[in-house]
Amino acid sequence: MQAEHLPDSILIVDFGSQVTQLIARRVREAGVYSEIAPFTMAEEAFDRLRPKGIILSGSPASVPDADSPRAPQPIFDSGLPILGICYGQQVMTHQLGGEVRPGHETGEGGEFGRAFLTVTEECTLFDGMWQVGDRHQVWMSHGDKVTRFAEGFEIVATSEGAPFAVIADEKRRYYGTQFHPEVVHTPDGAKLIANFARHVCGLAGDWTMAEFRATKIAEIREQVGNGKVICGLSGGVDSAVAAVLIHEAIGDQLTCVFVDHGLLRAREREQVESLFRGTYNIPLVVVNAEDRFLAGLAGQTDPEKKRKFIGKTFIDVFEEEAKRAGGADFLAQGTLYPDVIESVSFTGGPSVTIKSHHNVGGLPERMNMQLVEPLRELFKDEVRDLGRELGLPETFVGRHPFPGPGLAIRIPGEVTRERCDVLRKADAIYLEEIRNAGLYDAIWQAFAVLLPVKTVGVMGDGRTYDNVCALRAVTSTDGMTADIYPFDATFLSNVATRIVNEVKGINRVVYDYTSKPPGTIEWE
Ligand code: XMP
Repeated sequence: MQAEHLPDSILIVDFGSQVTQLIARRVREAGVYSEIAPFTMAEEAFDRLRPKGIILSGSPASVPDADSPRAPQPIFDSGLPILGICYGQQVMTHQLGGEVRPGHETGEGGEFGRAFLTVTEECTLFDGMWQVGDRHQVWMSHGDKVTRFAEGFEIVATSEGAPFAVIADEKRRYYGTQFHPEVVHTPDGAKLIANFARHVCGLAGDWTMAEFRATKIAEIREQVGNGKVICGLSGGVDSAVAAVLIHEAIGDQLTCVFVDHGLLRAREREQVESLFRGTYNIPLVVVNAEDRFLAGLAGQTDPEKKRKFIGKTFIDVFEEEAKRAGGADFLAQGTLYPDVIESVSFTGGPSVTIKSHHNVGGLPERMNMQLVEPLRELFKDEVRDLGRELGLPETFVGRHPFPGPGLAIRIPGEVTRERCDVLRKADAIYLEEIRNAGLYDAIWQAFAVLLPVKTVGVMGDGRTYDNVCALRAVTSTDGMTADIYPFDATFLSNVATRIVNEVKGINRVVYDYTSKPPGTIEWE
């Protein structure tokens, strides 16, 4: 974010906890903008963001270890409110002159999972929710313990395993929780974080998508000037939202390119064309590269080789089209926050690795273009909110994720035009039935897979020998783990009947009951 457009914010200093992202979610849900910075870069982020409050995250590290991470001193010198969570509480205690000892030394061991605390004093963090004497469920996960707090602090809530469950120095507006308020297993945790943001830091909680949209438009204009921007559309939510936002900022300086690799779902290309050309009047180049992709996939059965070929060819085609369109100074991408958060790893000492798994990775370097990534600070559901704010239709905004290699990884074995056509028909019937049953939004991803297996069937008086189609539907929050969606038997048998009756080439339908792990969501 550029200095002129800075929203009121809270900076989260990340010490490598698995759940740091959830802190940012909770703060944003309270209507306050937040960013995460690894502790190694926290000082820089602090100077740039000029936050109104600080949250120190948990960590797998141990404060008593001499080389464990510390919070930058300027944070304590700033006079801003600080909330330390778990390790954050301990590191704050240590840096302010208190004492933290390893669990094994105190002879009490750690405390993991559900615990109950008792409120012993009033505290701003408890405003409107917890009274003195109340007992509340929280979620603990710690080995070490604060054994002496720093001057100015007092205990405001206590638990059996953590006498210092919550400590507070109301004068300096410093707070520490031994438990994790950011996780759902602490039922009042979101409220506690909202109290910190609003009541302690005094923030209005009015950060909205409308404000974000206006801020981003100003930023895009400033970054791009009179330059030309090119944006690859995938048919998914992220690139569509990025493109519509950028177009609102710079109009026809933006050109969108949609590469039809022939591995799309039914009517996908038409939907993109009608939305961009029709509704938004955004300059759009549609490249029909089906022949090129299918020619390259001929005879190819290895999943990784299929993926690599598609990724490389996509970049080649995109680059050619960008040149044909007269070149561009900027490349727009729908990169999201989880892709850019720099994760802190403690395996082999503190190190910083940047996650990057974008479909067009490698393009910017190759094409020597600067990046425009207006969604870099947003989580997926925030992108959906922004899409709604921009007036994108719900059918687009609420779409299930669709992988870059498309139907190719849903056709185990060789991909041919005929097999793509068969799969497209089965998939369309399945999705239509899911939408008709009102189940689409309850499912993370649902799709059909065309198996390279033929089985015998009987239709009318004749014997059939045709392909098997597998149906998959999962629930998930981030695609990393997934559960199967428990359709009822009537629904599944209706879908199976329709597919076998209506799709020539399929005579048997099966349902995939595998969760992730051990299965992956896609079949390849
Ligand atoms: P898996 O199959 O790994 O999928 O459980 C997790 C999520 O990632 C998507 N996926 C991909 N997305 N390119 C993409 O853009 C790919 O090669 C790819 N492979 C899997 C998948 O659809 C699911 O949402």
